[in-house]
Amino acid sequence: MGAGFVIRPEEAADHAAIDQVVRGAFARHPEEVALLVERIRASENFVRELALVAEDDSGVIGHVMLSWVGVENGSRSRILCLSPMSVRPDRQLRGVGAALIRAALDRAEAAGEPAVILEGIPAYYPRFGFERASPLGFVAPSASVPDAAFMVKRLPGYDATLAGRIVYPAAFDHLTH
Ligand SMILES: CC(C)(COP(=O)(O)OP(=O)(O)OC[C@H]1O[C@@H](n2cnc3c(N)ncnc32)[C@H](O)[C@@H]1OP(=O)(O)O)[C@@H](O)C(=O)NCCC(=O)NCCS
Repeated sequence: MGAGFVIRPEEAADHAAIDQVVRGAFARHPEEVALLVERIRASENFVRELALVAEDDSGVIGHVMLSWVGVENGSRSRILCLSPMSVRPDRQLRGVGAALIRAALDRAEAAGEPAVILEGIPAYYPRFGFERASPLGFVAPSASVPDAAFMVKRLPGYDATLAGRIVYPAAFDHLTH
């Protein structure tokens, strides 16, 4: 893996450390994002093998989850969503986030999934091949999502009929950001 850390699926023993990493990364709204992780994990939309941690000799330093969200009027009723994405503050800007995102996308592609959507930093995700989703026909889950933040990564199985209105499951209901 290089750079002194490894990427692997999360395990039950990691939950407390993941909680700390998420709270550290989202210091302005720690409760909200920590609860999102817990609610996704407890839901039928959780995909165990697509919840990944980065770990070095100090413990868990990063975490990412791909989980199912709904698609209305698309050819499939659900699509993978990357959220949340967290790197421990003392390990940011060292390629940890990039390694987690690439590993998650590789695993989604290997599983035959055609696409991954997210709401995220417009300056960060295009380097991984994410592009604006609305020109492809996707409709954001809420009008409050900036168009530039609503992105999709097309994987080899992608086709235009996948597009539709994204509907977040109940695990996302408490989010205000
Ligand atoms: C955003 C985040 C996941 C990036 O992970 P990371 O491991 O720190 O970043 P990487 O080392 O993979 O990538 C570094 C690059 O990303 C850019 N980047 C990192 N955070 C950024 C941000 N908030 N806005 C714009 N660009 C950002 C850096 O400028 C750098 O660019 P360069 O390669 O052109 O110099 C991480 O900083 C983080 O957890 N931040 C707090 C929580 C958060 O905002 N999560 C994402 C919500 S969508």
